[in-house]
Amino acid sequence: MIVHGGVFMAKKIIVTGGAGYIGSHTSVALQESGFDVVVFDNLSNSNISSLDGVAKITGTRPEFINVDCADFSALRSAFMLHRDAVGVIHFAAFKAVGESVANPTMYYRNNLNGLINVLDLMREFEIPNLVFSSSATVYGTPAVLPVTEQTPLQPATSPYGGTKVMGENIIRDTVHAYPQMHATLLRYFNPIGAHPSGLIGELPNGVPNNLMPYITQTAARIRPVLNVFGDDYDTPDGFCVRDYIDVNDLARAHVAALNYMLSGGDGVSVFNLGTGRGLSVMELVRGFESATGVPVPYKIAPRRAGDVPAIWADASLAERVLKWRADTPLSETLASTWRWQKNQSN
Ligand code: NAD
Ligand code: UD1
Repeated sequence: MIVHGGVFMAKKIIVTGGAGYIGSHTSVALQESGFDVVVFDNLSNSNISSLDGVAKITGTRPEFINVDCADFSALRSAFMLHRDAVGVIHFAAFKAVGESVANPTMYYRNNLNGLINVLDLMREFEIPNLVFSSSATVYGTPAVLPVTEQTPLQPATSPYGGTKVMGENIIRDTVHAYPQMHATLLRYFNPIGAHPSGLIGELPNGVPNNLMPYITQTAARIRPVLNVFGDDYDTPDGFCVRDYIDVNDLARAHVAALNYMLSGGDGVSVFNLGTGRGLSVMELVRGFESATGVPVPYKIAPRRAGDVPAIWADASLAERVLKWRADTPLSETLASTWRWQKNQSN
């Protein structure tokens, strides 16, 4: 809370990309923690109805400005209105790996121009705290598992991944040049799930690329069969292994990161956000079937180009420093995902 003319005001946070999948869940977590949320989004990969869901869950509709972060003067006007914000969570970016390979300049332009504009405007309006959405993709194919924040980064294997590696470097250089700014880089592993209410969740455009929405759409009979990419990896059951983190746990980590910076954490901090547990594709499929009782027809397909055989997080740094842990049981995550999918199908 900030005392302003004797009146208590909630601390305001600008959430770019706040209408999207992770941004809408984070807006819920922020509002439930007493923050005042303003969403900047151009709805290029989301629907404004996600904010209706946030309003139903929390009782408060975040203020919304339809703005393209890559358009400096439009973004400046939006920042001007909210120059009293104490922090920015920057989710706004394109995220489809294959699309980034096909159209790299679209990805560099959107993701990097957006970030650079945000940094320049935070400096101009003296907003000190940034949380940035990075990704486990920065680790490439790691030699040792689980990966810690000290694990060496590898050259990006896609323009999308490139925007995350470059984004982290741009932020480090900027905070180094302007020490009044602080940043937290959050490296997400594989976010899955939906709000337990089933009112907000992931809304993929067209045929999903990612495993979880493909599973739920197959279970809902929207897709005939799930293609499981590869069963001959050097992993315990031959299937690829990932660290699937509940999106509500991920959302809470953003609140923890903000509180950490607001209570004095400075410079640039980096945290892995995962469960610390690897699950294979088939373990996730079987987990979904047992959590929901709904079968998922699948067939084994060839390996997908560019897939890392196995990666999962050591997230103990976030536990020690942010006092945060991913603790939603997988069965709850999968049940919430299915509730959301059924709401969509209806
Ligand atoms: P999403 O597409 O659901 O949300 C991104 C939001 O940003 C959308 O609402 C979109 O309309 C908006 N947006 C995009 N470009 C914009 C621009 N120029 N101006 C204003 N708004 C813009 O994606 P998400 O899954 O919620 O991902 C959020 C962030 O987390 C992204 O930066 C993504 O790269 C990162 N990330 C996601 C995952 C994942 O698996 N979902 C994993 C690692 C990192
Ligand atoms: C991918 C991106 C990553 C991005 C993340 C979230 C690649 C190489 N990596 O991660 O950069 O941050 O999405 O957007 O694209 N699978 C199937 N069948 C499917 C879909 C997936 O078997 O229909 C398997 C994949 O082979 C993989 C696992 O499921 O082993 C997870 O895949 P996915 O959900 O796409 O995430 P990542 O590839 O880990």
